[in-house]
Amino acid sequence: MAEFDATSGRRVLVTGGAGYIGSHTCLELLQAGHHVTVLDNLCNSSLESLKRVESLAGRSLTFMQGDIRDFELLRRVLVGPNNECPAFDAVVHFAGLKAVGESVSQPLAYFDNNLSGTVCLLRAMTEAGVKTLVFSSSATVYGDPASVPISEDFPRSATNPYGRSKLVIEDMLADLYRSDPAWRIARLRYFNPVGAHVSGLIGEDPSGAPNNLMPYVSQVAIGRREYLQVFGGDYPTPDGTGVRDYIHVADLASGHLAAIRALWQADSQTGCLLTVNLGTGVGVSVLDLVKAFERASGRPVPYRIVARRAGDVAACYANPVLAQTLLGWRTQRNLADMCADAWRWQSRNPHGYRQAAATGGA
Ligand code: NAD
Ligand code: UD1
Repeated sequence: MAEFDATSGRRVLVTGGAGYIGSHTCLELLQAGHHVTVLDNLCNSSLESLKRVESLAGRSLTFMQGDIRDFELLRRVLVGPNNECPAFDAVVHFAGLKAVGESVSQPLAYFDNNLSGTVCLLRAMTEAGVKTLVFSSSATVYGDPASVPISEDFPRSATNPYGRSKLVIEDMLADLYRSDPAWRIARLRYFNPVGAHVSGLIGEDPSGAPNNLMPYVSQVAIGRREYLQVFGGDYPTPDGTGVRDYIHVADLASGHLAAIRALWQADSQTGCLLTVNLGTGVGVSVLDLVKAFERASGRPVPYRIVARRAGDVAACYANPVLAQTLLGWRTQRNLADMCADAWRWQSRNPHGYRQAAATGGA
């Protein structure tokens, strides 16, 4: 029987909610009237992001500092203080490590955090009877795709431990659903999340030199780095540089709301297992993005074309049709919006959340 009531506030546990995508999704959840609890160990984020989420939403959330590998903590949280079992209507699971290069040098840290952490979360959810889950997967599960755009039924492969952790978790979730069809699970495959909330108050705050293109370009534009290295100018793409599907983080956040709604609408007896690409369907090259960023910021972004980065693919962009039909969701923001919002965040917070946390304000 359908259980969804759009007007009532549902209780949602968000693991990793203080991070980049999590903070934007918490804001969407609060704005939609839901009650949000964040569990995060802050290993790659700061509480400042959630303070700003609360101020943007005009509502508060509950924060618990803790690790998803702490089974007793998770069980207590999911069962609730009065053993009201279950204490949540859904879990959105962002918590995990995500740096590809680091995963190659520290595979066990990635298997422990991402795999053991997810097993621990799923065991605690099972005990508490919370069986509605949205999981952050990645387009990395498509490996080097034979063609583009990429549909959900394309073959999957892993080229590094990070990617393998996503692939294995996807399979674990399928096995879990097969074992107990009361589970309602969405495996969301993100393409390349970029940008920031339009207010410039929350955004991506990488520690150290960014690995990903957009934050690197932002730091060149603000003068923190001298120039961008463009990894490869000889790919079989229109301008020779790598092509990706950049998706605005606010669109990605709204995709999570659409997915939770779809899960809540699914029958709680027969459950469901959804696997959906979250992308725009538009391929953008590195040089396209550099030009768009220069226009949005009014700043030059000097670059040098260097050798290809190991493990990179030429082109990767989504076929986004399934998300439209299954979730009734599509992206609203274009590349100019992504660059303008990334620039607003970067220029208002040149040192990310750290400076604000030290001085007590934005
Ligand atoms: P992020 O690092 O900003 O957020 C992850 C959050 O999880 C952080 O706040 C971190 O402190 C927390 N965390 C990590 N390990 C934890 C643990 N053991 N216990 C509790 N909290 C823990 O990353 P993000 O970009 O917001 O990514 C969120 C999710 O989306 C990740 O699972 C990531 O793999 C996935 N994803 C991200 C991208 C991307 O480009 N950002 C693309 C595809 C998939
Ligand atoms: C990377 C990860 C992928 C992860 C995704 C989202 C690798 C090999 N892949 O994908 O697993 O799911 O992030 O977090 O790390 N580029 C430059 N110069 C730079 C940085 C990037 O030219 O300084 C180029 C890359 O070669 C690529 C494009 O920009 O063509 C996008 O790179 P990036 O933002 O790192 O994302 P992906 O490589 O798509």
